[in-house]
Amino acid sequence: MSSNATATTTPASTTMQALVYKGPFSVSIESVPAPRIEHPSDAVVRITSSAICGSDLHMYEGRTAAEPGLRFGHENMGIVESVGDAVSVVKVGDRVVMPFNVACGSCANCQSAKTAFCTQVNHGFAGGAYGYVAMGPYPGGQAERIRVPFADFNCLVLPPGTDNEADFILLADVFPTGYHGCKLSGLQPGESIVVFGCGPVGIMAGYSARLLGAAEIYMVDRVPERLALARNFGAVAIDFSKGDAVRQILDLRRGREVDRGVDAVGYQAVTHDGKTEQPNVVLNALVDLVRPCGGLGIPGLYVPSDPGAPDDDARLGVIKFPFGRFFEKGLSLGCGQANVKSYNRQLRDLIVAGVARPSFIISNEVSLSEAPDAYDKFQKRIDGYSKVILHP
Ligand SMILES: NC(=O)c1ccc[n+]([C@@H]2O[C@H](COP(=O)([O-])OP(=O)(O)OC[C@H]3O[C@@H](n4cnc5c(N)ncnc54)[C@H](O)[C@@H]3O)[C@@H](O)[C@H]2O)c1
Ligand SMILES: [Zn+2]
Ligand SMILES: [Zn+2]
Repeated sequence: MSSNATATTTPASTTMQALVYKGPFSVSIESVPAPRIEHPSDAVVRITSSAICGSDLHMYEGRTAAEPGLRFGHENMGIVESVGDAVSVVKVGDRVVMPFNVACGSCANCQSAKTAFCTQVNHGFAGGAYGYVAMGPYPGGQAERIRVPFADFNCLVLPPGTDNEADFILLADVFPTGYHGCKLSGLQPGESIVVFGCGPVGIMAGYSARLLGAAEIYMVDRVPERLALARNFGAVAIDFSKGDAVRQILDLRRGREVDRGVDAVGYQAVTHDGKTEQPNVVLNALVDLVRPCGGLGIPGLYVPSDPGAPDDDARLGVIKFPFGRFFEKGLSLGCGQANVKSYNRQLRDLIVAGVARPSFIISNEVSLSEAPDAYDKFQKRIDGYSKVILHP
């Protein structure tokens, strides 16, 4: 192959269909330039599945600094269509899933497996992702194709064929992110854990806690269908619309606190009425509920800029946290984006071995052209929309 050549299956077309953010509560499918190999370490992947995430909703609802024109989609899998000259592990025709993180594989953070904090892919910032505000110049994969930088590092090769597509797509984000929440909390086999939020991330955190050997799992939300998912893997479902979650759990445990806690809600947490936002409500609850010397894992998103926040401080991401009580209890806390590469290979192999079947969380599978409607329904949580997979 000549030095400029790329391996490819079919001649790439110059345009493609992609989902484009137009402004709060508005996305559309538009014709955009198709991605191509821009660097020898790139691959272009034809998308077979791309998921909509709760994280996309923060942008969709105008609750971030996202500008119109951004192309969403950070949970992507598909078939490698072309690769640059420097790509040696990943081959044209491979079925692959990409972590939502874009990472270089070479910086100090990548080398210590902290791929969510890569310092080389997003100028002036630690961490990159596809299709996300402030996460670098990487258009999302809610589209027909995606360009994957550092393809050997960022593609996880899957078994060929189409089996377990609905399980494998969850390796891009929510399964490893839920798992990461448990790891951040310090969960050990035989311990108890509470997970706030039964969205896809929370359910995957509870499911991971089961895989990691938790003895007791408490899952908190107010949406009945979501609490029902939690019962699937033997968790105790706590409906916080029926009363304070901390009180309910302490009553069930005769006053004993739990060992570990995961916040899978983030800054748009609501109080028991389901309407009033209070960004610190889950953090407060975790400090109350987790035992002295226990641990808090916080994969739920908190942002430094929230145009729609309930008060001036929160607009700048400044959130009241009960640090005095936290200190007194000697608690530990881990937070941030999930380092998907730390777990996706092992979780893939749990799926291959039939030990893990995370696809039970998927509520809807639709075509790319139906995506604007799916966003609307997902945002309103109607018709059971909970985890939507797009098939371009
Ligand atoms: N750290 C990461 O790498 C990472 C990756 C993906 C998603 N996230 C973040 O994780 C969070 C969850 O994502 P998701 O896709 O599951 O979102 P989601 O919006 O589908 O789920 C959030 C759930 O929290 C519930 N909730 C709201 N207030 C609550 C409260 N006070 N107590 C208990 N439950 C409450 C809601 O009813 C909802 O079911 C989001 O903030 C998302 O941005 C982080
Ligand atoms: Zn996501
Ligand atoms: Zn890096």
